[in-house]
Amino acid sequence: MMKKTVIRGTGKAIPSRLVTNNDLTKMMDTSDEWIQQRTGIKQRYWVPEGEIMGASDLGLEASHKALEKAGWKPEDIDFIIFATLSPDIFFPGSGCLLQTKLGLKSTPALDIRQQCTGFLYSLATADAYIKSGLANKILIVGAEVHSSGLDKTTRGRDVAVLFGDGAGAVCVEGVDTDENIGVLASVLHADGKGADALMTELPASRLPDRMALGLEGDEIARYYPVMNGQSVFKTAVRKLPEVTREIFAKTGMTIDDIDLIFPHQANLRINQAYQQFMKIDEAKIFNNIQKYGNTTAASIPIALDEALEQNLIGKQGDTIMFIGFGAGFTWGSVIYRF
Ligand code: ACO
Repeated sequence: MMKKTVIRGTGKAIPSRLVTNNDLTKMMDTSDEWIQQRTGIKQRYWVPEGEIMGASDLGLEASHKALEKAGWKPEDIDFIIFATLSPDIFFPGSGCLLQTKLGLKSTPALDIRQQCTGFLYSLATADAYIKSGLANKILIVGAEVHSSGLDKTTRGRDVAVLFGDGAGAVCVEGVDTDENIGVLASVLHADGKGADALMTELPASRLPDRMALGLEGDEIARYYPVMNGQSVFKTAVRKLPEVTREIFAKTGMTIDDIDLIFPHQANLRINQAYQQFMKIDEAKIFNNIQKYGNTTAASIPIALDEALEQNLIGKQGDTIMFIGFGAGFTWGSVIYRF
């Protein structure tokens, strides 16, 4: 018998402040039409103004829900993996902050800094830890508070309109079984040549003055995420089909074996281009970016939680594929069977 990594429970946390595209037009020169046409996004949720809420706080709420569905107490967790590009503080990692908020004393916690591919790296890492025997009950969290770090002026509009806050959590457990279930295969990639196509530069340890205090005028933009949108878009629509073929070659599976695909929610147009290029039935692709914007490491676990709530998946034998591309560049895919 072999150890298989199975999902025991999922949960999500969405902050209460609904921000529509029209709300954004009061902060910057943009329009509902521009945003919807290019990205599919209609609205997103941000942490309420003035509230002190970090990635680990949203992560905590999502974790409690996932733990409840799994029937686990926090003490049952033997490893925490926390994926975020918007950690509560510069260091230590949000996994440590979540660990103590869960009331745990010495449970190990690992942060993953792989942006939009963060959940895929986390799931693949959890699977490897479980199969190696290092841990057996792992809490995976993807959580982001983007809103406190966006340039909400016209200067930053190309990025600011895309991102939303949120968290998703998944409890995974190793089980001994001969059945072909759980995480069936993972494929991960990175190409650091694309790093500056999507990045937040400051604070930067590579600078003699990491904090770069005293910047003025447009130099302030170095504290905000910057993106070469067209480069990211073009690379994503090339890499997503590539990694799909790679994971199918690895597993001997085809699209007919997959019941539902969960692409990272970066841009509805990217996912539609992927679907059309791969000639996949539209109904096989789960999208919810219209409601949440791009929640980066949280997007896939939020989507998974929603699809389970809607009973779209979860029956024994249902097979799903996660796929994503994002900053780094990083990209990857995981196939999972219930
Ligand atoms: N509202 C109105 N106008 C805008 C906005 C806005 N929010 N943002 C940019 N514009 C303007 C630009 O200034 C430009 O004006 P100009 O023609 O007068 O110069 C015009 O709109 C077109 O700008 P482009 O950048 O060429 O627009 P494009 O069609 O490429 O769409 C977009 C931009 C939506 C960002 C697209 O490139 C994209 O989605 N890229 C991929 C982004 C992505 O997937 N990111 C995910 C990774 S996230 C992660 O990993 C953390």
